[in-house]
Amino acid sequence: MSEMVKLIINDQEMEAEKGSLLIDKLLDEEIHIPHFCYHKALGKDGNCRMCMVEIAGQKRPQIACDTPVKDGMVVSTTSDNIMAVRRDILELQLINHPIDCPTCDQAGECKLQDFYM
Ligand code: SF4
Ligand code: FES
Repeated sequence: MSEMVKLIINDQEMEAEKGSLLIDKLLDEEIHIPHFCYHKALGKDGNCRMCMVEIAGQKRPQIACDTPVKDGMVVSTTSDNIMAVRRDILELQLINHPIDCPTCDQAGECKLQDFYM
């Protein structure tokens, strides 16, 4: 049986497999965590920075897709600080994004639009 660790996410105590990625725990628990470049089957890329979370004791927000869970970790995905960081990253993504929705394969129905809304 795999070793488990206890952590707190958004004030709720949870267990996760030791060494697993925080983003997988968030996705398994259906906790909203915007992300573009991570896919479980493909692994982490750490490029888009959308999956930022706040971790108690860490000076800066961390990307959940490159953060292994740890025993006693306290995580927030909804604090005012993390929402502001997320808005800034999304703003940056939009500024650097071509406005090609009519010709794009996603035809305006993509994660970028979803997260912006
Ligand atoms: S549909 Fe989405 S991915 Fe495609 S151009 Fe528009 S915003 Fe970008
Ligand atoms: S999902 Fe892109 S950096 Fe984490």
